[in-house]
Amino acid sequence: MKLKYSFTSMVTTRMLFAILTGLVISCVHDPFLDPNSLNDGKPSIPGCTPTGQICFEANVLPIFISACARPGCHDATSHEEGYMLDSYANIVKKGIKPGNANESKIYKVLFETGEDQMPPDGALTQAQKDSIKLWINQGAKNTTNCACACNENEFTYALSIKPILDNSCVGCHKPGSLNGNVNLADYTHVKSYVNDGSLLGSIKHTSGFVPMPQGTKLSDCEIAKFEKWIEAGALNN
Ligand code: HEC
Repeated sequence: MKLKYSFTSMVTTRMLFAILTGLVISCVHDPFLDPNSLNDGKPSIPGCTPTGQICFEANVLPIFISACARPGCHDATSHEEGYMLDSYANIVKKGIKPGNANESKIYKVLFETGEDQMPPDGALTQAQKDSIKLWINQGAKNTTNCACACNENEFTYALSIKPILDNSCVGCHKPGSLNGNVNLADYTHVKSYVNDGSLLGSIKHTSGFVPMPQGTKLSDCEIAKFEKWIEAGALNN
């Protein structure tokens, strides 16, 4: 009887402790950011951005969608640890200090190692980390429709095609995360999907192919780069 009593009281104490800790932690959390307050009172800042400005929609959102907002991780159903990284409003809600990447959890976690590493199946490229850093340091604004920053006549593999694939596709298509058994992490594999037509078919949303990237479409300019690069022989240039 005595044993039973002390066990119950121990459980109760533990529960109380957990509840109190939870309360304290939730109080020290940063307040949720109001997205409009970052964008001159509007939901987004559309149009061309001056040189040196990062474009959230074209350069940053695709990284979050392909590397973080995946099933079981930070999509609308899973939102691991409360992070839902599938849209501007959800991304700026938590873990971002506009103007200060080094104080932003979402940026710092990209440099973790071991079991805290994000994404868990492989670090982002330096260029991707730099894009996220620049975006936060420039105020974490929702810049959209910045297609004028994209020149469809620049279409080398190294400078145009690979960065688009890295940002919009590789998170779901690399060794360790081979969705649809498709690997877009290196030139040789990419070339094989050029040859069988599935790369262009999927990004142009041609019927008969699964439309890619999942749930969205590359900009017309980005698609034009792929077409021109393929027309010119899909070189490893
Ligand atoms: C969020 C994850 C995700 C992202 C991002 C993504 N894919 Fe996919 N992809 C998938 C899944 C899942 C499948 C398998 C779909 C199926 O078989 O129904 C797939 C299938 C494919 C296929 C095979 C399509 C076919 O009809 O044979 C190609 C090619 C492809 N993806 C290319 C891309 C390209 C190129 C991008 C970037 C522009 C991209 N994917 C971005 C998840 C993703």
